[in-house]
Amino acid sequence: MSLSIVILAAGQGTRMKSSIPKVLHNISGKPMLFHTIDIAQQICNDITIVLHHQHKLIEDSINKHYDGIKFHIQNATEFPGTGGAIKGIRFNNDRVLILNGDMPLITKESLEALIDSSTDINMSVIEMNNPIGYGRVVIDNSIVKEIVEEKDCNTKQKSIKRVNAGIYTIKRDLLDRYIPLLNNNNIQKEYYLTDIIKMAVDDGKIVNPVYVKEEEFKGVNSKLDLAKAEEIMQKRIKESLMKNGVTMHLPDTIYIDIRAKIEGESIIESGVSIEGASHIISSHIKANSVVESAIIDSSTIGPLARIRPQSKIINSHIGNFVEIKKSTLNGVKAGHLSYIGDATIDKGSNIGAGVITCNYDGKAKYQTTIGKNVFIGSDSQLVAPLTIDDDVLIAAGTTLTKDISKGYLAISRTQLKVVKGFFYKFFK
Ligand code: UD1
Ligand code: CA
Repeated sequence: MSLSIVILAAGQGTRMKSSIPKVLHNISGKPMLFHTIDIAQQICNDITIVLHHQHKLIEDSINKHYDGIKFHIQNATEFPGTGGAIKGIRFNNDRVLILNGDMPLITKESLEALIDSSTDINMSVIEMNNPIGYGRVVIDNSIVKEIVEEKDCNTKQKSIKRVNAGIYTIKRDLLDRYIPLLNNNNIQKEYYLTDIIKMAVDDGKIVNPVYVKEEEFKGVNSKLDLAKAEEIMQKRIKESLMKNGVTMHLPDTIYIDIRAKIEGESIIESGVSIEGASHIISSHIKANSVVESAIIDSSTIGPLARIRPQSKIINSHIGNFVEIKKSTLNGVKAGHLSYIGDATIDKGSNIGAGVITCNYDGKAKYQTTIGKNVFIGSDSQLVAPLTIDDDVLIAAGTTLTKDISKGYLAISRTQLKVVKGFFYKFFK
C-alpha cells in the first residue's frame, strides 16, 4: 500500500530556551529535523512537514538541503495541537505515517513494524516505569481503547505505564473522516490527534499497538534532552565505524560528525574531534586533534594538531601544535608548531618547527606554493604570495619575501656577534 509521510514540527519548543527553532538544533552536526527527514526519505518520497513558529527560517534551511519536501503551515491560533497540525492536509496516498520533528533517534528499522501492516491504525507504544508527561494508552483485554493525555487523566489512568510514543500509521480515509470531527474540549484547549483513536475504536476499527524502544522514540524538548540524544547518536556513529574496522581509543572521549567518513584501518585516539564532512582514509589521528571538513589520506596527525576546512593531507606526517587551513600537502612532514594556510606543498618537503605562512596582510589572503624536496628551516616566515621551486633550502630563521628558483638557498639573518666576558661585566 502506498504511503505518505507527515512530520509534525509546528510546536514552539519553549523549553529549549533558544532563539533558534527547536528542530534546527544540531545533533552530531545535523539539525534534529534533518535526521528525521533522512529516515523518512528512505521510506517514501511524499513528505509534508507541518510548521508554524519561525516557519520561513525552517523552510529556507530545509530547501537548501532537500528537494521536493512539501510544507503545511498550521493555523495554530485557531487550531492548536497535534490534531490541528494535520487539519487541511490532502494526502496523496492511502496510508499516512505521522512522525515528529523532535524525535531524531528513530531508525528505519524501528519504523518498519509500524508501516508493515494493513491494519487501520498502527500506533507506537512504550512501556515506561516513569511515564510522566506522556499520553497514557488505555488497553483492555489487549485491545487499545483510547489515549488520554496526562493532564486529562484521572488517578487510575495516571498509573498506566503504557504510553503513546507519538508515531502512527493511519489510513488516509480515517484521517479525512475524523480530523474534522476533533474538538478542543480538554484541559489544554487543544485539538488532540490522539482523540481519533477513540473515534476509530468506537467505529469498530482495529488499533494495533506496536511496542517500541524508549531510546529510539525519545522526544527532544530541552537542552538536556539534546545532549542526551547526541550521546546516543555518537554511540551509534562510533559503533558502526568500529564494526567497519576503525580503531578507537576511549571512544567515549571522541566526537565524530554524522557526515564524516572514516575508512580503511584508521586509528582515532582519545579526545579527537572529527567535524563536518571530513573524510579519513587509512590514517592515524592522535590524541586531542581536531579535523574540520578535511580530507586525510594515509597520514598521521597530531597529537594536538588542528586541520581546518578545505585541507587535503596525503601521505604526510603532521605533528603537535600544527594548524593547517585550506592547504594541500602531499608527502610532507610538518612535525611541530606551525601555521600553514592557503598553501600547496609537494612530495619530500619538510617544514621545520615554528614555520609560518604569512598568508594574510590584513586585507586579503595569499597563496604559498612549495615544490618537491624543499627544506624549510625552523622559525622561518614565508610571506605570501610566494612560490618556492623544487630542491630549495631555506635556512632557519629566514623571512622569505620573494620567489625562490630550483636548487637555491635562501637565508636572511643578522650577523651573529659573540662578546667574550660580557656576562660578568653586565651583572658585575
Ligand atoms: C504528544 C501526544 C502524547 C504523546 C507525546 C509523545 C497529543 C495530543 N499528545 O504529546 O500522547 O505521549 O506526544 O511525545 O498528540 N506539534 C505541532 N503543532 C501543534 C502542537 C504540536 O506540529 O500545535 C508538533 C510538535 O512540534 C511536536 C509534535 O507535534 O513535534 C508533538 O507535540 P508535543 O507538544 O511535543 O506533544 P505532547 O504534548 O508531548
Ligand atoms: Ca513532547
